[in-house]
Amino acid sequence: MKTFIRLLQGTLLCAFIASGCTHTVKKVVNIEAYDSLKFSVKEITASPGQEIELTLKVISNLPKSAMSHNWVLLKKSTDVKQFVTDGIQHKDTQYVAPKDKQDVIATTGLVGGGESKTITFKAPKEKGEYTFVCTFPGHYQAGMKGKFIVK
Ligand code: CO
Repeated sequence: MKTFIRLLQGTLLCAFIASGCTHTVKKVVNIEAYDSLKFSVKEITASPGQEIELTLKVISNLPKSAMSHNWVLLKKSTDVKQFVTDGIQHKDTQYVAPKDKQDVIATTGLVGGGESKTITFKAPKEKGEYTFVCTFPGHYQAGMKGKFIVK
């Protein structure tokens, strides 16, 4: 309880301090994914180290094996095309090649039609542009990608 109160105080304090505050408020991001192979959100901005609560909801009536999506945030150094290509052969690890696992900052895992999955993670501390993708085969190539901007 003490911890909770301290956390609350920190959050309230931050609301009054416009700049230079390191105690950032959690960011909530809701993304939908469609049969048209599109994410509803193409760009997300966050501050360095900000806590993110991200929900991926999949809108589809197709069976999960035919149509599912994930949301995978990649490290800046990742060769994105190669990462996605490597993943095609790895259905058992949610289309992420085991050898490329270290490139992943955060992932929802595969989500089927009518389902949703919420994850929490911290935004990278290093400022810049990061890429997020869906690794289900063919989806990245069709445009299931976006930018995660830390600034
Ligand atoms: Co997809």
